[in-house]
Amino acid sequence: MRPFKSLIAAEQLTPDVIAQLFKAIDQMAEQIAEHGRIDLLEDKVVALLFFEPSSRTMMSFQSASQRLKAGMVFAQNASSTSFEKGESLEDLIRMVESYSDIIVMRHAMPGSAQIAAQTSSVPFINAGDGGNEHPTQALIDVYTLNKHKGRLSDLNIVFGFDSLQSRSIHSLSRLLAQYPNNRFIFTGPTELQPSKEMLDDLQALGAKCEVTQEIDLRDNVDVAYINRLQEERFSDAQIFEQNRRRFRLDRASVEGSNCIVMDPLPRIDEIDVEVDDLPNAVYFEQASYGVPVRMALLAMLLNKL
Ligand code: CP
Repeated sequence: MRPFKSLIAAEQLTPDVIAQLFKAIDQMAEQIAEHGRIDLLEDKVVALLFFEPSSRTMMSFQSASQRLKAGMVFAQNASSTSFEKGESLEDLIRMVESYSDIIVMRHAMPGSAQIAAQTSSVPFINAGDGGNEHPTQALIDVYTLNKHKGRLSDLNIVFGFDSLQSRSIHSLSRLLAQYPNNRFIFTGPTELQPSKEMLDDLQALGAKCEVTQEIDLRDNVDVAYINRLQEERFSDAQIFEQNRRRFRLDRASVEGSNCIVMDPLPRIDEIDVEVDDLPNAVYFEQASYGVPVRMALLAMLLNKL
């Protein structure tokens, strides 16, 4: 039995749900290695609505659907749909629910996932709603983290460099705050520190939170979770230009530490390419888990696990 009909926010990914999903993700990875494609969703159609740019999320959902032999319908760019003519999100979802068995949507408006999930009669997956949440990325992140550290608790995690606007940082920190004894160290430009509301929420869940401009990855840090400054979300372009290369992880700051370096990608300025061949750098491996992770989620929400 699925734990919920739609995935909107990372807080739904409780430790029990994560344990169930980790088993399913391992099984999906084995099935890919053994058979390439399996017929688990051959009677289903997945709708992929991407109204903001995406490479990894869109293509890994496509690949996951293909590997499960589901049919697909697509909409890319609001300008290629009847949004352009003024149609509402609710009306769009009412139409798409009759064309598909599950809807995956990325949309620039924070809160759009909640509206779509409430409207839809079929399961819904949030593939990123503006600067709010990106829960399927958080699932990829904890799966990667657990592979390398063997646990999701008792961790010291540095988050940088745009904790205010990064939906990936929002979702991962909210998910990990549900596990005991995690300490979050937020670093980056003063203007891009996490909001007071976010810090209060995380601390209420039990996470220890610090905000600092100085980090030393050799100082007992387990994970550096780095995400680019979210250029498309700045209301003041000057703040972006002033800060875009000020905070950057270079090889010297990582080499010799026990800290893994993660990034939901795309990488722009935030990590030097010279970090890529260090054993600490796991961001491309992290991206590779997108397919089995999204296969497991699609199967779970379509009651096929
Ligand atoms: N991590 C992530 O969401 O990447 P895309 O924007 O390319 O989908």
